[in-house]
Amino acid sequence: MQKTDDKKLLIAALIDIDGLDKEELASYIMLPPDTSMGDYALPCFRLAKILRKSPQAIAEELKESILARDNPFSAVEAVNGYLNFKFDRTQAAGKLLAEVLEKGPEYGSSAEGEGKTVCIDYSSINIAKPFHIGHLSSTVIGAALYRMYLKRGYKPVGINHLGDWGTQFGKLIVAYKKWGSDEAIEKDGVMALTKIYVRFHEEAETHPELEEEARRWFKRIEDGDAEATRLYNLFKEKTLEEVGKVYARLGISFDSYNGEAFYNDKMAPILERLEAQNLITVSDGAKIVDLKEWGMSPCLLVKADGATLYATRDLAAAFYRKKTYDFFKSLYVVAYQQNLHFKQLFKVIELMGESWYKDMVHVPFGMVSLEDGTMSTRKGKVVWLKDVLDRAVEKAGEIIKEKNENLSDAAAVAEQVGVGSVVFFALSNNRIKDIVFSYDRVLNFDGETAPYVQYTNARAQSVLRKAGGIGSLKGAPLTKEELSALSGREGEELVSLLARFGETVSEALSKYEPSVVTRYIIDVARSFNRYYLAHRILNAPEGERRARLQLVYATHVVLKEGLRLIGVAAPEEM
Ligand code: ARG
Repeated sequence: MQKTDDKKLLIAALIDIDGLDKEELASYIMLPPDTSMGDYALPCFRLAKILRKSPQAIAEELKESILARDNPFSAVEAVNGYLNFKFDRTQAAGKLLAEVLEKGPEYGSSAEGEGKTVCIDYSSINIAKPFHIGHLSSTVIGAALYRMYLKRGYKPVGINHLGDWGTQFGKLIVAYKKWGSDEAIEKDGVMALTKIYVRFHEEAETHPELEEEARRWFKRIEDGDAEATRLYNLFKEKTLEEVGKVYARLGISFDSYNGEAFYNDKMAPILERLEAQNLITVSDGAKIVDLKEWGMSPCLLVKADGATLYATRDLAAAFYRKKTYDFFKSLYVVAYQQNLHFKQLFKVIELMGESWYKDMVHVPFGMVSLEDGTMSTRKGKVVWLKDVLDRAVEKAGEIIKEKNENLSDAAAVAEQVGVGSVVFFALSNNRIKDIVFSYDRVLNFDGETAPYVQYTNARAQSVLRKAGGIGSLKGAPLTKEELSALSGREGEELVSLLARFGETVSEALSKYEPSVVTRYIIDVARSFNRYYLAHRILNAPEGERRARLQLVYATHVVLKEGLRLIGVAAPEEM
């Protein structure tokens, strides 16, 4: 659809008629009843009324003026008051292949975001809680947007807004002192912390006094007490060590790990300003911003006991980011359960009179569950992301062994396919959808999966290797005759898909929707496989071989780069 409109506009742009705007002209352009007449037709009957000439005379005049200029058509004909256009596919293919050959992995890059900084708050895990699959989507969506912004010339800033403050740390200290030890933490890491955290909640049901004890310990952390601080830091360090390993497997890093604790000393000035602006209401001793007028519950900023909240820290963080990065956009890749929180946050900033509230975007996503049900930290029914990755890698290893026994480096490929399959899955649907994870589905080599695309890329690479590498493809630009080796439905479809790579990345960014790129590379892989089945490549006749190999190369570049953008590796062989 989009593509058709672009072509209509392109045709309209080549035609000058006084007093007629291009959009209007484009709306006259139609698809001819019979494709042998051309790709598009402009009926000149309505123009005849405006210009007071016969439709056929207008068609002929327009034809002359178009042919007198550079144009993208192989034929323009005036027939019975219609002007018929045929796009020159060979020319389009030549342009695409030359560009990919010249740019390699830079193909699809642009400078459209130059000078624009985009903050991306993503992953944002909670300290001393496990890295479970609830954090998968935020992590991979945020990281994919990050890479795409970079590709289109923006300056992204990746922020892991750690959940490293709150009463849970008091609970953990109580739990640690009763049932934990440094040795257990040394040995089992965050697992040991989760275990005692779960136990705390179980025991607190019958011993409510534990909650009070936890509050006292949290107060000691706030007051900088030595023992409390040592434990707090230990929990934080251990968690980061562990999640660091998962991030490394996913190929993800952050520019900032400033989490909630970082804003402890940055809330007071904001609260003072809110008071000065008369935006604060005191309700039962708590400080709130009343949002009734906008149909929302109040934004709670300070509890009656003086404690600040998640929202208070987010408010301070928003101002800090604006001041530090002067962002063009500030994104929050956070589950849709927090819709209200972000609506409240943005509204408070608007009420404070800051126009940049408009540049803040909540990028919500749905829930990931396993086929056997979901999980919650408190009840201890948690699915660790690490375990999901391990299991996927193990299964990928089995499948690969079955398919290709002699693969060298099979373990490394299994890691790329296993981890890739999980990431690809999380990015293959519209992000707002709730999704159900299944190992068999994500590892299906014939499905809409990482291994399908990875395998297609490896196939393209193997053709290129056998042809002697891309060095042998370079040389003089392809001639018209050579390029005609790409004509036919499969070749033309593949060329037009590959030509849309850069635009596709832009579209994904404008919707904050990495799945646009995932869907696109699935289409490219499918289109390539159809081409591969229908045409000889390595043993094509001499005049045709180079153009076809260049098409294979362009496919490989787009698949590999597309996979990289969504965070999936591309093994050379599988
Ligand atoms: N740690 C939070 C959670 O796991 C997500 C934080 C998102 N970022 C933010 N600035 N609020 O629910």
